[in-house]
Amino acid sequence: MVPNHMAAVQLTGHGGIDKLVYRDDVPVPRPGPGEVLVKVTATAKNNTDRKVREGLYPVADDAEVTSFAIGGSPTLTFPRIQGADVAGRVAAVGAGVDGARIGERGLLDFNLYADERGDINLAPDYYGHGADGGFAEYVVVPSSQFHRVDNPELADAELAALGMCSYQTALHMLNAASVTAGEHVLVTGASGGVGTALIQLCRALGAVPHAVSSGDREAVLRGLGAASVIDRRAVSDWTRAVHEATGGVVIDAVMDLVGGALTNPLIDVMTARMGERRTCPRLSIAGASAGNVTEMLWTRIYLYQVQIFGVSHGTRAEAAQLVGWIRDGTLRPVLHGTFRLSDIHRAERYFVDRGTDFVGKIVIVPDVEWDRHGARFSL
Ligand SMILES: NC(=O)c1ccc[n+]([C@@H]2O[C@H](COP(=O)([O-])OP(=O)(O)OC[C@H]3O[C@@H](n4cnc5c(N)ncnc54)[C@H](OP(=O)(O)O)[C@@H]3O)[C@@H](O)[C@H]2O)c1
Repeated sequence: MVPNHMAAVQLTGHGGIDKLVYRDDVPVPRPGPGEVLVKVTATAKNNTDRKVREGLYPVADDAEVTSFAIGGSPTLTFPRIQGADVAGRVAAVGAGVDGARIGERGLLDFNLYADERGDINLAPDYYGHGADGGFAEYVVVPSSQFHRVDNPELADAELAALGMCSYQTALHMLNAASVTAGEHVLVTGASGGVGTALIQLCRALGAVPHAVSSGDREAVLRGLGAASVIDRRAVSDWTRAVHEATGGVVIDAVMDLVGGALTNPLIDVMTARMGERRTCPRLSIAGASAGNVTEMLWTRIYLYQVQIFGVSHGTRAEAAQLVGWIRDGTLRPVLHGTFRLSDIHRAERYFVDRGTDFVGKIVIVPDVEWDRHGARFSL
């Protein structure tokens, strides 16, 4: 029986964590044609939740924008329920959806796709930004984007930790740069959601990942598949540090999530060995945690034929491939821990403060689901 009202965290405007308001009287949405109502059991946090809350997506003229507006107009309105990477159970179906889906466990492909194309996603937007997401007890999503994942070895919080916001972005970074088996790939921000996804996906593709990280994370990152781990806090000469840490391999591509002052030295790492390369230096960038501005010499970019790929989300085809890899056990969740939905402020502070042992994902569990789906991973 679906209730009329639910608990949810609403983002009420841009600003501090006081803009996140926990309520228990939010109307439960109803599925329309082609949609399913999902009873949420776990939703992973992403850095984008913080950026949207703070209004931190800038545009070329340096003005701050408060929303993705890639499709032409801003899609964020308040109040908005955030939370992109939703795991849960189908609780009801809309017109045209097989009622047999009720009870099915699955994972949301978080995109608000602008069209049906499987090969390209030109106007990325997502549940939790342009439409309500999973920091709630229920969410309505397209039936076609709620992918069944039975795997009994995966707890719901672990399934949410495998969410598309990180994994699809990571896969698209690798695909954009045409990373192939046997290539060596340097991954920045390696301990985060996208970074840990990149390490695993490199291995899934047969490539060799090398991690740039900080803190006490080497053992975990090696356990995920990193062939070497470079502590970014200890580096003054990146070309030498990468050479020493990797045993002198040529870095074929860089997957950059931090930007700022780190991007140029990592391009240097690739251009320093032109005579030994088999392909052009390639860099995919999908985040700028270390700074949104990087000064770059275009002469160096074109003379050394550096290929730079901007990446935002990924495609329907990549989502399907990832679901396959989740089902067959290729990908492992990197779940750092869980918080109750009503404890969202503490979760937000924990995420932003980021302790030195924090690796992977934080997952939010509705209070009514806590004993079953949250308590065993509690932070
Ligand atoms: N374009 C897209 O579609 C898309 C999708 C998802 C995420 N993103 C962006 O990608 C980035 C990573 O996302 P995420 O979810 O993985 O974030 P995350 O879980 O918060 O991880 C970010 C990691 O970056 C590293 N880092 C943070 N500040 C840094 C700094 N000043 N210098 C160097 N490294 C720093 C840290 O790793 P270490 O301490 O281990 O170095 C941190 O763990 C974010 O900027 C996010 O907004 C973009």
